[in-house]
Amino acid sequence: MNFYVATLFPEQVTSYLNTSITGRAIAKGAISLECIQMRDYAPNTYGRVDDTIYGGGTGMMIRCEPVYGAYEKACELAGEKPYTVYMSPKGSVFDEKKAHELASHKNLLIICGHYEGIDARVTDMVCDEEISIGDYVLTGGETAAIVVLDAVARLVPGVLPNEEAYTSESHTGNLLEAPQYTMPAEWNGVTVPEILRNGNDALIGEYNRAAALCDTLKRRPDLFDKEVVSEEDWEKMLAFEKGL
Ligand code: ADE
Repeated sequence: MNFYVATLFPEQVTSYLNTSITGRAIAKGAISLECIQMRDYAPNTYGRVDDTIYGGGTGMMIRCEPVYGAYEKACELAGEKPYTVYMSPKGSVFDEKKAHELASHKNLLIICGHYEGIDARVTDMVCDEEISIGDYVLTGGETAAIVVLDAVARLVPGVLPNEEAYTSESHTGNLLEAPQYTMPAEWNGVTVPEILRNGNDALIGEYNRAAALCDTLKRRPDLFDKEVVSEEDWEKMLAFEKGL
């Protein structure tokens, strides 16, 4: 999958994504990342991309030309119009389902605003959708783009070592992932549940489902309400809570 990012601060994006799991995925070609500097498409020789806002709004906005120039460059690099997303606090809120949708595209362009955002004429013209990462305002779209790119990249085949890594995670279904533990079996007087150390796969599966159901009910009742919970599940949850 090919990622394109239109930004005024490419180093913010590349420094994160060229590191660790996403960095290795780029190095081995499972994904590609091309940051397009919008300043290269400024409508003047001195690289100024922003201007004051019509109607008296405070602050500065990114003009249409640099964004459109970067968009055209992405189209040229991709050999088609990439699926195009504008990171904005006004967008629909990003979740795992949206990550799966975005991962189905071969080419994805993310446009990052800065200052007071981007002239709406160009985002309306080129963007397929606007995405927010939550109900708060960031200084720029780059950190939001990194969140989206990271969540999408890990769904691309070849990025994670095995598929189970992303089928049994929190937010893949309705439930949060059950608590997990590693060595040592006892730490600071707290022991890893016996069943996880000595149980068979079927018992561990049942235990983890009960743990996931209990955790989700406590932490995210909104998600729990979406899950189909059987009589047997309730019995197992009760047993789990009693430490049986
Ligand atoms: N740009 C500024 N704030 C943002 C947010 N919450 N989500 C996406 N892009 C943004």
